Amino acid sequence: MRILALESSCDESAVAIYDDGAGLLAHEIHSQVDLHRVYGGVVPELASRDHVRRLLPLLRTALADAQTSPCEIDGVAYTAGPGLIGALLTGAALGRSLAYAWNVPAIAVHHLEGHLLAPLLEEEPPPFPHVALLVSGGHTMLIDVARAGHYSILGETRDDAAGEAFDKSAKLLGLPYPGGPELARLADRGRADRFDFPRPMLDRAGLEFSFSGLKTAVALAVRDRTANGGQGPLDEQTRSDIAASVESAIIDTLARKASRALEATGYDTLVVAGGVGANRRLRARLASDVARQGARVFYPRVEFCTDNAAMIAVAGMVRLKAGRHEDLAVRARARWPLADLATS
Ligand code: KG4
Ligand code: ZN
Repeated sequence: MRILALESSCDESAVAIYDDGAGLLAHEIHSQVDLHRVYGGVVPELASRDHVRRLLPLLRTALADAQTSPCEIDGVAYTAGPGLIGALLTGAALGRSLAYAWNVPAIAVHHLEGHLLAPLLEEEPPPFPHVALLVSGGHTMLIDVARAGHYSILGETRDDAAGEAFDKSAKLLGLPYPGGPELARLADRGRADRFDFPRPMLDRAGLEFSFSGLKTAVALAVRDRTANGGQGPLDEQTRSDIAASVESAIIDTLARKASRALEATGYDTLVVAGGVGANRRLRARLASDVARQGARVFYPRVEFCTDNAAMIAVAGMVRLKAGRHEDLAVRARARWPLADLATS
């Protein structure tokens, strides 16, 4: 079976073609980072308009790369939520229409299920059951993944997501959007032990996270060390040290909770998914912590950690094979709790 998939939930337009025998045949992506950078973050209306411009050319290129004609496509998957509603609707309208025109099923995919199943694209996919640490710009969750399609949330953030903590701290340090990778780069030159930023919720049992206090701590550190009561520039070494210390606080919290989740479930496999999973130091820390526990950690390759359509194709394939598809309506959901997935 062969599936075409679209992703347009935020600031990446992407199209992929995936075959359950031959694997990933094509994946095309256009990042809107340059479009939004001057505004310091994603502008939803601009994102939607750009998806409209980009999706069809990406689709044509993907079909050509995969040497696939529309009559060989058995289903069309698209991200139906959660995300920016206008952006989601561009992919949902296109996906639903293509499925109608090609007379094949349309499959609405949950963006987070895409992230969770992205490691299935790798040569050595993770076994089930496993614990997934899902860390993106909007979500931070530990999930018990019994098998594809069967998820139960073990713990999640009460406020900001880990990616948001990276992005907000980066902004306070004057780094351009998107902040996470920029902060990680600045941290290369910094000392992680100079600032003792909070590691919230570690002192109590449970698998919940809270990252909102971190940005206040970073804001205070920046203000206290800036000349002229917060008006002057921050010296370069201090900036790098703050970046390294905040990155270390986030990583420490994620790693310790992930270890606890492995302990609590008794599983020996951890999967890391979502954009923050691209962070090199997080990967290194998890690899060593998890190995010490006698478990293994699996990641999607870096390009499939951040938003892409290949992961939507994999999740769509699981649903297509299970006979799940949509009626003729074009639907998208800005909010869509993962817990609703089994019944949706
Ligand atoms: O999964 P994703 O591409 O989009 C969402 O669905 O949210 O994740 C984006 C998030 C952003 O907060 C970005 O700053 C963060 O992932 N991110 C990183 C790195 N690469 C992306 N955070 C830390 N280190 C990185 N290398
Ligand atoms: Zn995402």
